[in-house]
Amino acid sequence: MENIATIILAAGKGTRMKSDRVKVLHPLLGLPMLYYTVDLSLNHIKAEKTIVVVGHQADQIEERFKDFKIEYALQKEQLGTAHAVLQTLPLLHEFNGTVLILCGDVPLVKPKTLRSFIDTFWSNDSTLSVLTAVVKAPYGYGRILRSEEGWLEKIVEEKDASEEERLIREINTGIYCVKASFLKEGLKEIGKENTQGEYYLTDLVEVARKRDLRCSAHMVADSAEVMGINTRVDLAVAIEVLRQEKVKELMLSGVTILDPKTTYVDKTVEIGMDTTLYPNCTIEGKTQIGERCLIEPNVKISDSVIGNDVTIRTNSVITESKIDDHASIGPFAHLRPLSEIKTKAKIGNFVEVKKSTIGKGSKANHLAYIGDSLVGEEVNIGAGTITCNYDGFKKHQTIIGDRVFVGSNVELVAPVKVGSHSSIGAGTTVTKDVPEGALAISRVKQKNIRGWNKRMELQHKKSKPG
Ligand code: UD1
Ligand code: CA
Repeated sequence: MENIATIILAAGKGTRMKSDRVKVLHPLLGLPMLYYTVDLSLNHIKAEKTIVVVGHQADQIEERFKDFKIEYALQKEQLGTAHAVLQTLPLLHEFNGTVLILCGDVPLVKPKTLRSFIDTFWSNDSTLSVLTAVVKAPYGYGRILRSEEGWLEKIVEEKDASEEERLIREINTGIYCVKASFLKEGLKEIGKENTQGEYYLTDLVEVARKRDLRCSAHMVADSAEVMGINTRVDLAVAIEVLRQEKVKELMLSGVTILDPKTTYVDKTVEIGMDTTLYPNCTIEGKTQIGERCLIEPNVKISDSVIGNDVTIRTNSVITESKIDDHASIGPFAHLRPLSEIKTKAKIGNFVEVKKSTIGKGSKANHLAYIGDSLVGEEVNIGAGTITCNYDGFKKHQTIIGDRVFVGSNVELVAPVKVGSHSSIGAGTTVTKDVPEGALAISRVKQKNIRGWNKRMELQHKKSKPG
């Protein structure tokens, strides 16, 4: 076995995406497109070196992948695929094994496919090998010209192909294996005498053949794996392939998915056994969901950690929050970033929580806003209760102790502290701290005026003309 260095081509802008964002940073099931080829190289092929050729938005790409063990070659001007690879040569100075060339916009290749491509390359003693596919619509791709014995003779680009060559349905996927020693020499011989005036990497085949070096072509079984993403239509096709793979993987690991067609789960999400997802859920980012949870229809969860036996009822939105075992959320609840809902707590309909901790067994069952608060254990928050956390300039904190009873329609004007075991009467505006065990009540005393209706009727009659 030889050492492998991977080169990933990603300098192009992706003009046909019609986007301000460079193509390889467009997300595919929660991860940037470029992640997929980087992951293949680092974690499946386990290459000695992984070099990404960047150009457009190089800074953004480097920032996004700063935690990955990769090197960058900058291609300032995109003069063609051969020119792109040329930029990596300074980084390959001491490397003498096999170079695997991937394209950042061909993300669906399977590790197994690459493995057998590389193994065949090693066993058939060729200098260069290209991964090919037979497709129904070869338009736009480079076509594969083979010798009678089946060895690779030439790759001809669509724009340079004769009518006869255009009929060939075996295409170049843009993925290659090549001996480093030949690559370093051969690249320098490639010119740009073609229709597009670009340095074509595909011309490396002709350079090798001139020296009578063997070139081979390795065909993939499933051409869907090597689809290139050029437009947003391609992007949607690729996302759908990955989405189906993800839901299938979850089902095979013990998650019940009632309607796989309408379930959107990012690649990065983890879900435990015997959890059930109802139709139309979107679960994104670094979300982890435990076992035996129930996620009802139309729920959206992003970057959150959810324990075991949790129920998320219909139409709830949960972002960057943590929910502990046996808690219940929704229907129609909104948990905004940094909310923490402890064991057995209950957040009911039309309740919004932001940057707050709701203690064990506490309840806010209806129509409430809890922001920047620390709520203790076994607290009852009445319907219509609001923490007034914002004074127009700054946010302030509300602290509520254990076993507090907050009546309905209470305003807690922060910063304020409510001691444990205290009660707050319905309709109270709390502006001062409440001592432990006290009752806070601030509403105006009720007055009943007897005979009011009769008085009103009399007045009405008098004012009528005639
Ligand atoms: C290329 C191949 C074609 C193949 C197709 C597969 C050549 C000449 N042609 O064509 O045979 O069928 O891929 O998708 O190689 N890139 C750079 N720098 C550049 C130019 C391109 O980094 O100067 C990168 C792009 O970002 C992209 C990849 O190389 O990731 C392929 O480039 P693209 O322009 O899409 O090549 P095609 O014309 O599609
Ligand atoms: Ca392309």
